[in-house]
Amino acid sequence: MRLSRLVIHGGRPLIGSIPVSGRKNSAVAVIPAAVMATGPSTLANIPDIADVRTALEILQALGVRWEWTAPHTLRIDPRPLRAERVPAALGKRMRASYYLLGALLGRTGEAVAPLPGGDDIGQRPIDQHLKGFAALGAEVAVARGDVRVAATRLEGARIYLDVVSVGATINLMLAAALAPGVTVLENAAREPHVVDVANFLNAMGGYVTGAGTDVIKIRGVEELHGAEHAIIPDEIEAATYMIAAAGTGGDLLLENVVPQHLEPVTAKLREAGCEVREEDETLRVRSTGRLRAVHVKTLPYPGFPTDAQPPMTALLSVAEGTSVITETIWENRFHHAAELQRMGARIRVEERTAVVQGVERLEGADLRGVHDLRSSAALVVGGLIARGTTRIFGLEYLDRGYEALAEKLAGAGAFVERFDDDDVRLEPEDILPGSLEG
Ligand code: EPZ
Repeated sequence: MRLSRLVIHGGRPLIGSIPVSGRKNSAVAVIPAAVMATGPSTLANIPDIADVRTALEILQALGVRWEWTAPHTLRIDPRPLRAERVPAALGKRMRASYYLLGALLGRTGEAVAPLPGGDDIGQRPIDQHLKGFAALGAEVAVARGDVRVAATRLEGARIYLDVVSVGATINLMLAAALAPGVTVLENAAREPHVVDVANFLNAMGGYVTGAGTDVIKIRGVEELHGAEHAIIPDEIEAATYMIAAAGTGGDLLLENVVPQHLEPVTAKLREAGCEVREEDETLRVRSTGRLRAVHVKTLPYPGFPTDAQPPMTALLSVAEGTSVITETIWENRFHHAAELQRMGARIRVEERTAVVQGVERLEGADLRGVHDLRSSAALVVGGLIARGTTRIFGLEYLDRGYEALAEKLAGAGAFVERFDDDDVRLEPEDILPGSLEG
């Protein structure tokens, strides 16, 4: 069997600089958007991560041609598009495959995709996406695990989202971009990647205004042409490294970031006693001494991002005092707590709240990568902070969203090595109770 693991000798400060990749959650939406065009698009700053590779496999199955024309630069030619069904095995691998529903519905009037998979962090319904497609005039049917949306003619509509949903906002923007008439999305998500997708649609000849506010207006156009676009930096990757620098007493420069996108994280790190300096496209994080406990509540942007909550929990496990962390977005996003406890953390989870009583130090341990990439990232942060050696087994969730994680950390002075053994005599069960699938 293949056994991937990270081995971290912790306790070394992160010093130097780390280049931040393009944003995963933007890339997985912009790539389907490119399928809506009548000609090829060129997308720059695309991260080389498993979720992007899955998105490209899906495009291939639909007949769409693509090629890497340079590192992180993709050319997507949707002209040979010949199918409207996202293969179930691929679609289930990645939640964002649901963006093909909006993109194909707009482009061809029909799409089929499996009910989405993704990280195990809660129920993750897509009712708001489906309600919106229906409001645009599509017939929506869910049967045998597939969603089918079809319309002879879409028409712009006023749609109020009952919950602030990034996915529903983007998906409806995609479908509405080619729906005649005007669509108004109310209670829309304001995340920067919503704005990024709107900018790309506009570069393709679309007409989207208000992205970044909670009311987005889309005037449907007859066709979208190919365009060039560079996607925005990944603020969660950046936040993960900022938090790791704060926890290791580091002095780290994050390159290629938009500091404004990171304000909620920066504010909390400062409150905890860490120094953060913002410049044009960089952020410098410096910490000396032990940080203070802070309370954290996750909220839609511009609140504290749920995706940075797990790494932040790892950091606060060694802060002085007791922190209360409230997760309001996902009902099940404290998988990392049990693993951090193996390292000596004192975390009590009750439903959507974790009470973290800071300990002086974490001790290295053997850990299991959990079924949520950000909870897996929290274990990496724990390992960097801890004294001694931490081994993290099962990296497939981390690989979905962090490009060259071990290399980037090693470049900033961490002692991190990755092993991918195809032929191992040691089974994971020999190392840990329970299985990797747990
Ligand atoms: C996106 O998921 C991200 N994924 C998630 O990042 C992120 O945690 C989340 O937004 C919140 O910021 C991608 O962009 C691919 P939502 P998404 O729709 O769009 C409820 C990561 O770690 N809801 O904004 O699926 C839902 O249950 C991943 O990179 C409905 O009730 O999230 C949740 O409580 C994990 N009905 C809340 O809304 C719906 O139809 C926000 O979900 C849709 C959502």
